[in-house]
Amino acid sequence: MRIVLLGPPGSGKGTQAEFITEKLGVPHISTGDMFRKAIGEGTELGKEAKKYLDSGQLVPDEVTVGIVKERLNQSDCEKGFLLDGFPRTVAQAEALDGILKEKDTGLDAVININVPREELLKRLTGRRICRNCGATYHIIFNPPAVENTCDKCGGELYQRKDDTEETIINRLEVYKKQTEPLIQYYKEKGLLKDIDGGQSIEEVTKDIGLSLGRDW
Ligand code: AP5
Ligand code: MG
Repeated sequence: MRIVLLGPPGSGKGTQAEFITEKLGVPHISTGDMFRKAIGEGTELGKEAKKYLDSGQLVPDEVTVGIVKERLNQSDCEKGFLLDGFPRTVAQAEALDGILKEKDTGLDAVININVPREELLKRLTGRRICRNCGATYHIIFNPPAVENTCDKCGGELYQRKDDTEETIINRLEVYKKQTEPLIQYYKEKGLLKDIDGGQSIEEVTKDIGLSLGRDW
C-alpha cells in the first residue's frame, strides 16, 4: 500500500507509523527523521536544513521533494511505503503526484489524524525519543518502563530541540497556513480518511486499520 500520514505536529504520525509499517511490511519514510539524521551527520543537506528545523519553518520545497524522490526510487518502495510528514505543501503534493505518475501508480490512502491544539502542546512538550533506535515515548502518556531508557533497545532518551513551547507554537502556525490546505486537496481526490487522534494510542491504531480495511 502507498499511504500518506497527514496531521499537525504531535498528532501521533511517528507513533502510528511504527506500528503500521511493521504490520504492512513497507518502509517508513519520515522527512523530519531524514533531516535530523543529516543534521546529526553534518552533511551539506543537514547544514541547509538545520536553520529551518530549529525555528520550526519548512525546508524549501525543492530540497524536500529532491530527497523524497530519491528515496522513493529505492527498490524497497516498490511494494509500497508510508510517508510521514510529506507532503506538507500543495506544491509538494503536486510533485508527489508527478513522481508516482511516472511510475504508473498513485496513492491508496491519506490518513488525516485530528487532535485538538491544547492536547498537541501537552504531547510535544512531554515527548522523548530514543537516541539509538528513534522510538517515541511520552513522560506521562506513554512512559518507558525505566526512566530515560528505551524499552526496545536500552538506548538513552532525549528531547527534540524543536519541542520547546515557542517553536511548537510556530510549527502549529506553519501547519495551519501551509499544510492544512492539503486536507481539501486530498478530499477532492477521494483519498482522505479522517481519524480521531484524540483517543488512546491503541484506539487510534485500530481506527487507522479499519479505515484501510484491516482489523488488526
Ligand atoms: P517532523 O519530524 O515531521 O515533525 P512534525 O510534523 O512537527 O511532527 P512531529 O514529529 O512533531 O509529531 P508526530 O505527529 O510524529 O507525533 P508523535 O508520534 O511523535 O518535522 C520536523 C521539521 O522538519 C519540520 O518542522 C520542518 O522544519 C522539517 N520538515 C519535515 N518534513 C518536511 C516537509 N515535508 N517539508 C518541509 N520541511 C519539512 O507523538 C507526539 C507525542 O505524543 C509523543 O510523545 C507520543 O508518545 C505522544 N502520543 C502519540 N499519540 C498519542 C495518543 N494517542 N495519546 C497520547 N499521547 C500520544
Ligand atoms: Mg514525527
